[in-house]
Amino acid sequence: MKTTITGGAGFIGSHLTDYLLAEGDEVTVLDDLSTGSLDNLAEALDSESFSFIEGSVLDQEAVRRAVAGADRVFHLAAAVGVQLIVEQPLQSLRTNIHGTENVLNAALAEDAVLVLASTSEVYGKNASDSLDEEADRILGSALKSRWTYAGAKGIDEAFAHAYWSELGLKVAIVRLFNTVGPRQTGRYGMVVPNLVGQALAGAPLTVFGDGLQSRCFSYVGDVVPALVRLSGQESAFGQAFNLGGAQEVSILELAERIVERTGSDSSITLVPYEQAYAPGYEDMRRRVPNNSKANGLIGFVPGTNVDRIIDLVAEDLRQRGSLEARLMGKPGALAPLAAAG
Ligand SMILES: NC(=O)c1ccc[n+]([C@@H]2O[C@H](COP(=O)([O-])OP(=O)(O)OC[C@H]3O[C@@H](n4cnc5c(N)ncnc54)[C@H](O)[C@@H]3O)[C@@H](O)[C@H]2O)c1
Repeated sequence: MKTTITGGAGFIGSHLTDYLLAEGDEVTVLDDLSTGSLDNLAEALDSESFSFIEGSVLDQEAVRRAVAGADRVFHLAAAVGVQLIVEQPLQSLRTNIHGTENVLNAALAEDAVLVLASTSEVYGKNASDSLDEEADRILGSALKSRWTYAGAKGIDEAFAHAYWSELGLKVAIVRLFNTVGPRQTGRYGMVVPNLVGQALAGAPLTVFGDGLQSRCFSYVGDVVPALVRLSGQESAFGQAFNLGGAQEVSILELAERIVERTGSDSSITLVPYEQAYAPGYEDMRRRVPNNSKANGLIGFVPGTNVDRIIDLVAEDLRQRGSLEARLMGKPGALAPLAAAG
C-alpha cells in the first residue's frame, strides 16, 4: 500500500512511519521540519520504501506531489500545542486551516483514504466524566489565541465532514488526547517530556497552578495502530473517534510518580498560572475520554499505564544523551504546560 504522512517527521508521525514501513507500506512524508526533525526518521531514511519531501502543507503543489498515487493519507502536520499557537497565532491558523484544506483536496483528487488528526482540545472546558464524540464544545473567547488551536481543529473537522458528505471523500477524524511517548519534545510546552527532563537533570519539577488539573495520557504505541486500523474501516468515514488514555492522573501526581520512577532527588514547585502565562490564561481542570466508539469499531484499548509511559520517556531522554533534558532543566528554560496537545 502507498501511504503519505503529512507531519511525518514529528513525534506521532515518525512512529506511524516506522510502523507502516514495518507493515510493508511505501511511505512518503511531507514535513516542513518546523517542529519535527529528521532525527525522528533516522530508521526510515535507511529504507528503500521511504521518501521524504521537505515542504509545507501550505504549498498546494508540494501537497499534490506528496499525495500523488497514494492509497491513504494521514494528515498530522499542524502547529501543535497551546504554547506555540499563543506565540504564533497567525501562522498557526494558516497551517491548521488552509494547510488542511490543501490536504483534503489532494486526497479527494487521488480518491485516497484520509485520516485527519484532530484533538481533545475541541471539547475545550467541558470537564464531564466521560467525553463522547457528541459532547458539547465549551470554548473561551474566539479572540483569545489560547483557543485558536481548538477553533482551527474544529474547522478542520467541519471541513472534513463536508468533504465526506458533499464530495464523497473517505475521511475519518481522530481526536487525540494528550498522546505521549519517546521522541516527543518538551520544547513547545508538552508536560511529560518537560517534567521527566527536569527530573533527570535534578532540577525542580515545575507544575502549574495547584497541580490538581488532571489528564488521561495515552501512549503513542497504543494510538498508532489504532490510526492504521481506522483507515481500513469504511464505516469510520465521516465519523470522529476519541483516542485517549484510560487512567486519569493529576499533574501533581504525575510529577510525584516521575520523581519516584526516575529515582530523582528533585523537588516539585507549584508555579502560579499568571507567572507562566499572560494574565487571563485559561486551563481546563480535567479531560476524560470515552473511548467506547473506537473500542467498538476497532477494539482500541489504551493498554500502557502512566508508570510504563514514564519509564519509556525517561529511557528515551537518557538515550538521547539527555541534552534536551539538561536544557529543559535549566532555570529560565521553558516550563511545562499543564495541558498541551
Ligand atoms: N501529541 C498530542 O498530544 C496530540 C494531541 C492532540 C492532537 N495531536 C495532533 O496530532 C498531530 C501530530 O502531533 P505531534 O504531537 O506529533 O506534534 P509534532 O509537532 O511532533 O508534529 C507535527 C509535525 O508537523 C510538521 N509541520 C508543522 N507545520 C507544517 C507545515 N506547514 N507543513 C508541513 N509540516 C508541518 C512539524 O514539523 C512536525 O513534524 C497534530 O495534528 C496534532 O494537532 C497531537
